[in-house]
Amino acid sequence: ILGRAKLTTTSALIPAAGSGERFGRGSNKVFCEVAGKPILAHTLSVFESCEAVDEVVLVARPDDIKTARLLAEHFAFRKVRTIVPGGEQRQDSVANGLKEVRGDIVAIHDAARPLITGEIIRRSIEEAAKSGACVVAVPVIDTIKAVSDGVVDSTIDRANLYAVQTPQTFRTDIIREAYRRALEDQVYATDDAALVERLGGVVTIVPGSYDNIKITTPADLEVASVKLGGGEVRTGIGYDVHAFTDDRKLVLGGVEVDFEKGLAGHSDADVLIHAIMDALLGAASLGDIGCHFPDSDSQYKEVSSLKLLEQVGQMLSRNDWKVLNVDAVVICEEPKIAPFSSEMSIRIANCLGIDSSRVSVKGTTTEGLGFTGRGEGISCQAVATIARP
Ligand code: CTP
Ligand code: MG
Repeated sequence: ILGRAKLTTTSALIPAAGSGERFGRGSNKVFCEVAGKPILAHTLSVFESCEAVDEVVLVARPDDIKTARLLAEHFAFRKVRTIVPGGEQRQDSVANGLKEVRGDIVAIHDAARPLITGEIIRRSIEEAAKSGACVVAVPVIDTIKAVSDGVVDSTIDRANLYAVQTPQTFRTDIIREAYRRALEDQVYATDDAALVERLGGVVTIVPGSYDNIKITTPADLEVASVKLGGGEVRTGIGYDVHAFTDDRKLVLGGVEVDFEKGLAGHSDADVLIHAIMDALLGAASLGDIGCHFPDSDSQYKEVSSLKLLEQVGQMLSRNDWKVLNVDAVVICEEPKIAPFSSEMSIRIANCLGIDSSRVSVKGTTTEGLGFTGRGEGISCQAVATIARP
């Protein structure tokens, strides 16, 4: 028995040749990493593993073609048959891609929608094979009003309104003809299907998903990161010791603790804050307090360690890290930590710009053993967990 040849072949056309202006990072957003790989790689991998798709025609900006080719090689996307240069507008980019399409059916899908699923792509291909043209869409959830000059003209009946996504999938001859006529008539539309509609062609709807967002602004990236199950979470550890001395105030966690002795040190010797700073810096692989705030630098003499902690917090946020939690244990026979621990948590949390429920401080003794047991000083251990999209 001879293997039956596939009756229809399907191409995916992926426009990735925008400039990502609303994204505002000065480079094409589709190469931006989310959940461990570029947006474009997420999108292409869905098509790569969708059995209904035979080949991919990728459209990239002329100066991104090399990068796009390296990306396709790196991730071993064997379906990416060709990468063609894009144009000024999305419609120009799609027009260029259409010239290279070999399938009988073409699914046009924005590179900037990495949350598409193979199931939706497959359904749109099946639908296009029947109807000739279809768009993936979801019912509009919000009430829509027509407004002029800040005044509502009317409330539009939502029952018939759909928000249109991609893929938009067509019989290749239909969409080619629509693009040819658009070029001839110098018509630009906001989506591919509109070019078919203006010629009186039938366009049907395939249920999409509210998750299938188009990444437009950096805020969308955070949403996508959560949905793609990505994001990076890291843990760091910190440890510090200071010896008791008679002539200083005792400052722990930014709180002045009433006690007969203080801690010796260059700054305010806040052993708790120092351990926390090292845990945070360690989690982010940003060095340690010794390298950022050296003893030899006179500007840190007597300085409140809370100020330094604040700077550590800023270093982390400059690197996109958010502090998820801090847990610390202060080790000494005396003084008792419990009466001060919630005040310490609040001070530390305020410094880091997080809720105090994310900062835990507790005390323990070493049962009279070792240097802390002999009352020679205080040691502190801390762990911190941080995350970024
Ligand atoms: N696109 C394209 N060629 C263009 C413009 C856009 O191939 N000349 C692609 C984008 O790369 C994206 C999709 O079309 O995958 C949807 O466009 P959009 O989300 O608007 O992306 P950008 O145009 O890059 O973003 P912006 O409009 O904010 O500049
Ligand atoms: Mg655009």
